[in-house]
Formats: sequence, C-alpha cells, structure tokens
Amino acid sequence: MDIRIAQSADLDAWADLRLALWPWNEREDLLQGSRVMLDNAHEVAFIAWQDDQPIGLIEGQIRRGDDAQLYGHVEGWYVVDAARGKGVGGKLMDALSQWFLHHHIRTLFSDTIPDYPLSPAAHRAAGFEEVDRIIIFRKRLDTDTNR
Ligand SMILES: CC(C)(COP(=O)(O)OP(=O)(O)OC[C@H]1O[C@@H](n2cnc3c(N)ncnc32)[C@H](O)[C@@H]1OP(=O)(O)O)[C@@H](O)C(=O)NCCC(=O)NCCS
Repeated sequence: MDIRIAQSADLDAWADLRLALWPWNEREDLLQGSRVMLDNAHEVAFIAWQDDQPIGLIEGQIRRGDDAQLYGHVEGWYVVDAARGKGVGGKLMDALSQWFLHHHIRTLFSDTIPDYPLSPAAHRAAGFEEVDRIIIFRKRLDTDTNR
C-alpha cells in the first residue's frame, strides 16, 4: 500500500473517494473543491493506493484559532469498505500528522456526526480525545407553525 499527496493527475480518483464520503454533494462540486485545494498551500489531501486502486483518503487544513494560534483540522477521512479495519485509516492519519508537524503544527482537531458510527472509535484509536459536543437547532420563520 502506498500513501501519497493527491496531485492533479489524481483528481478523478480523489473525487470518487470524496463522493463516497460525502454522498449528498454533486461530484462536480467535489472535483472543484479538490482543484481549489491543489492551489492552497495550507490544505492537503493524501490518497492511499493498493495495486493502483484508490482505497482511502484523508484531507487536512491549517486553520487559525480565536487565540491566533495555528492548528490542524481533519476535513475528511475515508477508507473503502473492503479495506477497513486493516490499519489504512491509521496510516492515513499518521501521514497527515507528519505533514502538520512538518508545518510546525502541534495540535490537531477533528469532528464527526452520527452518520459516521465508526468515526469516534477510529479517532480514539488515532490518539484523539473528545473535547466537546454541540447541538444545532433550526427554526423556520416563514411557516405558520411558529408560536
Ligand atoms: C474511520 C475510517 C476512515 C477508519 O479507517 P480504517 O482503515 O478502518 O481504520 P484502521 O483500520 O486504521 O482502524 C483504526 C481504528 O478504528 C477502529 N475501528 C476500525 N474499524 C472498526 C469497526 N468495524 N468497529 C469498531 N472499531 C473499528 C479501531 O479502534 C481501530 O483501531 P485498532 O485497529 O487499533 O483496533 C473508516 O472506518 C471509514 O472510512 N469510515 C467511514 C467514514 C468515516 O466515518 N469517516 C470519518 C468521518 S469524521
């Protein structure tokens, strides 16, 4: 298995992996998002390849916090069904962590939603600790159901 930084030659495979992770998006939008990432020095994607087939993806971004400190954020993490549970996800996280360290980033954040039930255990196994949970509310103001 090879893990390499995604390049423009990988755009199709990259979009397939992104679509598998975020299926509610349009493929073209995801493709465009990858193109933007390629032009952005503070973002990166790593793709895992097995026998020239793409089997996993991790994306990360350098962000600036309210305290002006830079930190790393995991934007997406995905391994195809058939390759899960064999350490590919862990190796992708290691590759991204090394990239952050190379950029002098020493703190990494990530988040998840219930749509990804495997994610909490995988994050814990990768050394993350849970620090917060949020509840998002919505209220429509243009219907009769409001009091
Ligand atoms: C999360 C994900 C990327 C992990 O990839 P992976 O290749 O399976 O990860 P690894 O094999 O390196 O396993 C990492 C850890 O995850 C946990 N894990 C993996 N598969 C699991 C399963 N089926 N049940 C419970 N825990 C599991 C284990 O703790 C494992 O650590 P261990 O091997 O030391 O026990 C993969 O499961 C995935 O793509 N899931 C769907 C998308 C997703 O949830 N992405 C994260 C969104 S925030």
